[in-house]
Amino acid sequence: MDYLIWHAHKVSRRDRERIKNQKGCVLWFTGLSGSGKSTIANEVEYKLNKSGYHTYLLDGDNLRHGLNKDLGFDYKDRVENIRRVAEVAKLFVDAGVIVLVAFISPFKKEREKARETIGRENFIEIFVDTPLEVCIKRDPKGLYKKALNGEISDFTGIDSPYEKPDNPEIHIKTVDTEISEAVKIIYNFLEQKGFLANEQK
Ligand code: ADX
Repeated sequence: MDYLIWHAHKVSRRDRERIKNQKGCVLWFTGLSGSGKSTIANEVEYKLNKSGYHTYLLDGDNLRHGLNKDLGFDYKDRVENIRRVAEVAKLFVDAGVIVLVAFISPFKKEREKARETIGRENFIEIFVDTPLEVCIKRDPKGLYKKALNGEISDFTGIDSPYEKPDNPEIHIKTVDTEISEAVKIIYNFLEQKGFLANEQK
């Protein structure tokens, strides 16, 4: 590391943001498997894209097919999983992009580290709050059934912990919030905080 030097680039984050008419930031969705993180993130990305904003969605399941395919679900691997996605998200923010991260990210300390890595002012934590019983009932991928039968181990909510955020910027209780309502809440938050251009796009 001693011989590595950080290069300053001629084009800055602000220059990149200026031509996109937006500010780079991270919408960090955390919640149990099957809580609705990816579904809501997808709809938020769709609305932002249709409104002319430049986004990118980093999804836990998808990144585990490529960048993070060497990682499993024990404590150490989940920590590394979050470290990598936080570093990737940080680069996207520097590119001026609105990044949506949809990872269970079950540990408070790791989410806090991600916030530090990305920069507090760029980080919006969204707790997709769905009770475990509801996730088990939905079981969209049949994984809860397998975990309850002991076919897979270290499953979040079953035999691996999920630590709820204490103070998320946005708290969506999915049981009494329609997806369209959740999208509005998140979009309005971005607008109010000045991440989206003021002019009509
Ligand atoms: S995280 O805990 O490390 O943040 P991540 O979001 O990347 O998890 O991946 C979670 C997805 O992997 C789940 O939605 C589910 O489809 C799948 N999965 C497979 N095994 C497990 C497991 N043991 N615990 C949680 N999710 C699992």
